[in-house]
Amino acid sequence: MYLLLFFVTLSFVSYCASDKNEKSESGSAFETEYQWTFINFTWNNEEDHKNAVATKKYIPENNAMAGIKFYKNNFYIAMPRVRDGTPVTLGYISTENSTKINPRIKPFPNWEMNELGDCDHLESVQSMEVDKNGTMWVLDGFRIKNNQCPPKLILFDLNDDNKILQDFTFPEWICLSRGGFLNDIVIDDNDGDFAYITDNSPIDPGLIVYSREQNRAWKIRDASMFPEIDASNFVVGGLEFKALAPIDGIALSPNRNGSRFVFYCSLSGLNLYAIRTDILKSEETCLGGFWRYEVKKIGQKQAQSDGLVVDNKGDLYYGLLPLHGVGKWNIYKPFSTAEIVAQNNETMIWTDSFALDDKGFLYLLANNIHKFFDSDYKLEISDEVKFRILKLFTSSKSYLY
Ligand SMILES: *[C@@H]1O[C@H](CO)[C@@H](O)[C@H](O)[C@H]1NC(C)=O
Ligand SMILES: *[C@@H]1O[C@H](CO)[C@@H](O)[C@H](O)[C@H]1NC(C)=O
Ligand SMILES: *[C@@H]1O[C@H](CO)[C@@H](O)[C@H](O)[C@H]1NC(C)=O
Ligand SMILES: *[C@@H]1O[C@H](CO)[C@@H](O)[C@H](O)[C@H]1NC(C)=O
Ligand SMILES: *[C@@H]1O[C@H](CO)[C@@H](O)[C@H](O)[C@H]1NC(C)=O
Repeated sequence: MYLLLFFVTLSFVSYCASDKNEKSESGSAFETEYQWTFINFTWNNEEDHKNAVATKKYIPENNAMAGIKFYKNNFYIAMPRVRDGTPVTLGYISTENSTKINPRIKPFPNWEMNELGDCDHLESVQSMEVDKNGTMWVLDGFRIKNNQCPPKLILFDLNDDNKILQDFTFPEWICLSRGGFLNDIVIDDNDGDFAYITDNSPIDPGLIVYSREQNRAWKIRDASMFPEIDASNFVVGGLEFKALAPIDGIALSPNRNGSRFVFYCSLSGLNLYAIRTDILKSEETCLGGFWRYEVKKIGQKQAQSDGLVVDNKGDLYYGLLPLHGVGKWNIYKPFSTAEIVAQNNETMIWTDSFALDDKGFLYLLANNIHKFFDSDYKLEISDEVKFRILKLFTSSKSYLY
């Protein structure tokens, strides 16, 4: 019955949407907006920079970026501490700055909060989301190195001096202090604000639900969140990715009449899945077993993906890692209409995180991140561009709007 409801809801919304929406702009290609050969920061002074290099607190070639989000003329950038020598794990650049090549990143909210050795600070951030109220929900939960602090979620008010509004430390039974990997987050502003979070942990992968109102979290674990053995071992930018990586990408449908859906997929996998948010929002339901009937297999993507995003038109964009490209599917249409919208084996090496701005642009971070995760891979600073933020005009906004 629920499955039937799913289709009825989707086709109903589809019918309504196609009446109103104009044909989307197409044919435009992604263009490079920012590029980096290595990451450097806005040091307070030359002394700090020199000390950081001398003490190996900063090893320039080891710094990587993994998550991007846009809010009010800033790009916020997550830099998980994948390798040693990463002095800053969350920072930002201003779009008002005309520097587009190797722009230096400013620590967020400041240097102190990025210092290691205090569990109230940011230890290793993989992703974040900014809601309509300008609250940034930061996932400090990359815990697959020798980490010291339990994973946590911290809410900063970007409109009030980056004040901390709330924080939540995940208990061991929801996300492991050693072996947990809070990977990506979407925000649902219905019923008192919820976050849905993927835990890419190789030990205990799953989908975490956090209620802001209750300041509580719970987790569901399902076979659909495991890696698919048949879809492992793929090559991106000439380097094989061998890890068996579970649930990673997550996206939320826009707030229209009817049910909302969370979409997710395993990194080492081809299948895209969905589940209704009203199922997720009930802790009681999630602690039972019947919710498994509600996991809906949407279809098989053309390739493995890392990040996903849905815009306010219902277009779901997904990275196509080994195809060095991006796919798109409108969630109100059959999955057979999914298409590859861009491919570039020079600029799209590991298509990772997506962001939408307020001017109709979609941004994509391509970041070579598998090279940073592969400890046998020798990183060095060269002319090779390691990170790009590419942009595409879609005339849409985020699913939040
Ligand atoms: C990083 O920036 C500092 C100035 O803030 C500069 O002195 C240094 O040369 C830069 N590092 C590299 C590797 O270019
Ligand atoms: C603009 O970026 C450059 C290079 O990263 C930096 O030196 C400069 O301080 C930035 N300016 C502003 C106003 O942020
Ligand atoms: C933002 O604020 C409004 C009211 O001020 C509230 O209803 C909403 O749930 C808040 N949260 C998000 C995520 O937008
Ligand atoms: C949603 O439903 C309400 C009440 O049935 C209606 O007033 C409103 O116009 C609907 N909105 C959309 C976007 O269909
Ligand atoms: C880029 O992709 C095309 C088409 O798949 C392929 O023929 C070409 O060899 C690739 N180039 C590089 C540098 O990998």
